[in-house]
Formats: sequence, C-alpha cells, structure tokens
Amino acid sequence: MRAAVVPGVDVAWELREVTTPSPGPGEVLVRVRACGVCVNDVLATRGLLPFPAIDPAVTGHEPVGEVVEVGAGVTSRQPGDRVGVTWVRAGCGRCDYCVQGLPVTGQTAMCCPAPTTTGFTAPGGHAEYLVAAAESTVLLPDGLDWELAAPVMCAGYTAWSALRAAQPRPHDRVAVIGIGGLGHLAVQYAKASGHETIAVTSSVDKVDSARRLGADHVVTDAEQLRAVGGADVVILTAPSHRAAAACLPGLRVQGRMVLAGIDGAEPFTIPSAMTYPFFALGQQIIGATHNGPHLLKEALDLVAAGRVTPWVETFPAHRVAEAVDRVAKGEVRFRAVVEY
Ligand SMILES: NC(=O)c1ccc[n+]([C@@H]2O[C@H](COP(=O)([O-])OP(=O)(O)OC[C@H]3O[C@@H](n4cnc5c(N)ncnc54)[C@H](OP(=O)(O)O)[C@@H]3O)[C@@H](O)[C@H]2O)c1
Ligand SMILES: [Zn+2]
Ligand SMILES: [Zn+2]
Repeated sequence: MRAAVVPGVDVAWELREVTTPSPGPGEVLVRVRACGVCVNDVLATRGLLPFPAIDPAVTGHEPVGEVVEVGAGVTSRQPGDRVGVTWVRAGCGRCDYCVQGLPVTGQTAMCCPAPTTTGFTAPGGHAEYLVAAAESTVLLPDGLDWELAAPVMCAGYTAWSALRAAQPRPHDRVAVIGIGGLGHLAVQYAKASGHETIAVTSSVDKVDSARRLGADHVVTDAEQLRAVGGADVVILTAPSHRAAAACLPGLRVQGRMVLAGIDGAEPFTIPSAMTYPFFALGQQIIGATHNGPHLLKEALDLVAAGRVTPWVETFPAHRVAEAVDRVAKGEVRFRAVVEY
C-alpha cells in the first residue's frame, strides 16, 4: 500500500510503498479514504512532541474510511461499514488508571503507561490502509462526506469536548481564541448551540472568515474582547498560554477558561492584575481533550446534520508533504485533509 512515511525528525513526509497490514483477531482493516493533518502530527514529526514510536513512521489521527476485512471474532463491524479512528484507541487494561474502567479518552493517553495511540504508538492514518481493534473504531453517520468527517476525529472532537467541559448555560457568551483547525470548529459548535460567539484571532485576514463561520463578534485582542462585553466561556485553541492569560480580563463573573490548545513552551500564568478578580469572580481554568466517545458522536452528528461544516483544503496523497508544509506555516483554511 502507499503510506505517507516520515523518514526522520524534521524530514519531509514521503509517499512510499509499504507492507499492507492484515487484521488480527478482534481487528478490522480499514481502507482509509481521508485523513486530516492535525498540528500535533506536524509537531511530532518535527521532534516537538514525541516522534512516532513505529517503523515505518506513519502518523495521522484523523482517519476515516471503509472496513474491508474483519479479523477473527469481530461481530460489531462488517465489510462496508464507514468508520473513523481517533487518537487514543485503548489503554493497557491493567494499570491503576485502566482498572477504574473509565471510557477511553485523551486522559487515557496521559495516565496509562502503555496506551495505544494512532500515529504515535500504532501506525497512523496517513496511508491507504489501517488496522485497528474493531471496538476502537467509530461508526460514521450515513451520508457524511469523508473530507468532512476526518477533521471531526480530532479537531471537532476536541473543540466540542472543550465547549461541553465548560458546561455553558443557554445564555452564555462563548469566545474562541485562535481560528485554526480546532478554533474554526469551536466557533461553529458554539454558534450551533445557540451561544453568542466571539472569535479572537491574531490574524487580521481571518476576520471575514470568522464572521462567515458564525462569530457574532470578531476581535483581535483582549481589550476588544472586554469592549464587546467579555465572555462567560473562553476556549483556547491556539498554542499560546500567553494569549489565554491575556484574555482573562475578558472573562466574566463565574467565567470558565478552557485550555484545549497546547503550549509546551511557556507556563500558564495569571497576570498579577488579574489575581484578585480571578478568585473574587469565582473563575475557573479547565483543561480539555478528547473527553469521551459520546462527545465524539455528538460532534459527528452536528456535522452530519449540516449545523457545523469543517472548512477543508483537500490534497491528493502525492501532495501530502505540501499539506504538512501549509499546516506548519499556518496557511491552511482551516483543516488540511489528505485523500488516500
Ligand atoms: N487538547 C487536545 O486534545 C488537542 C487536540 C488537538 C490539538 N490540540 C492543540 O490545539 C492547538 C490547535 O491545533 P490546530 O490543529 O487547530 O492548529 P492550527 O490549525 O495551527 O490552529 C491554531 C491557531 O492558533 C492561532 N495561533 C497560532 N500560533 C499562535 C500564537 N503563537 N499566539 C496566538 N495564536 C496563535 C492561529 O489562529 P489565529 O490566526 O486566529 O490567531 C492558528 O490558526 C494546538 O496547540 C494543538 O497542539 C489539542
Ligand atoms: Zn489532533
Ligand atoms: Zn493502562
């Protein structure tokens, strides 16, 4: 099969011929039709997150496609099923975390010493075929296009989990910092849920797009966020703790700031001017990741219903390196999806 192999740290991805996997007991073989490029794939292959611990290194955790073969004992999936696979597929099943019996979520990857993660510890989705445990696959809603389903597997799942983690009340105003892969979906999910929505972008050229995504207000800094009335929920989808902390003055009474963007470089610091407001206003800082399969189902259903639509740039497989390059440069509007 053809797969996008990452030959080494910070080396351009190459489409290569590699061995097609076959499904073992309990597994399915998926003919991948599309796989999104998450910024975390780019960071991992550039050595800024752990490099994929697989040989050949094939990353990608937004694959969707058809089941073409099932392994022994599989009853829940059959050839022809349209499925997706997410970042975290399973825990080890026996550590202190796993024995609690919690659903598989992004937490599993943090707390279990030996999780199965797509494109990190197990071969990823930037390939024509992928093998996964049948129970770790998700059935896609009927009729949902491959290129719209793929971004939901990580970007949409995270954005929706972040919104739901804030437990927004019906009248809450929601602000989203960073209009990229996650952020453009967070804006739409917030709007689709009936919230007055504010996009906070550092890119002036995204103002029009942010409005078309449904934002009621588009601001470029914290002062403007405050000037438009602030927000009850602020979701960080940019890789910048500094950008999040700068928006604290725009967080209202009992406000919740959800950190979904990952900043591995700088700590999150409450600015000294915000120390007293933060505790006096009863504000919270919450982390969010892939928070559970029921949330992925909700995120997919909203897209299938046409209430949220990923904006994608699609690339044929032979242009995968170009897709990665555009993601790295922040040029994609708003998710790169590679078709296999
Ligand atoms: N929590 C999770 O489970 C999870 C899952 C997937 C990804 N992530 C993280 O979520 C973040 C977004 O991922 P993505 O795939 O959506 O990336 P992306 O497409 O590159 O979008 C990130 C957006 O953040 C803004 N931005 C970038 N650099 C910035 C900076 N230095 N300061 C302020 N704003 C900046 C930009 O939006 P504007 O131009 O509008 O400012 C950019 O479009 C990353 O940190 C990623 O690691 C977390
Ligand atoms: Zn991701
Ligand atoms: Zn475990």
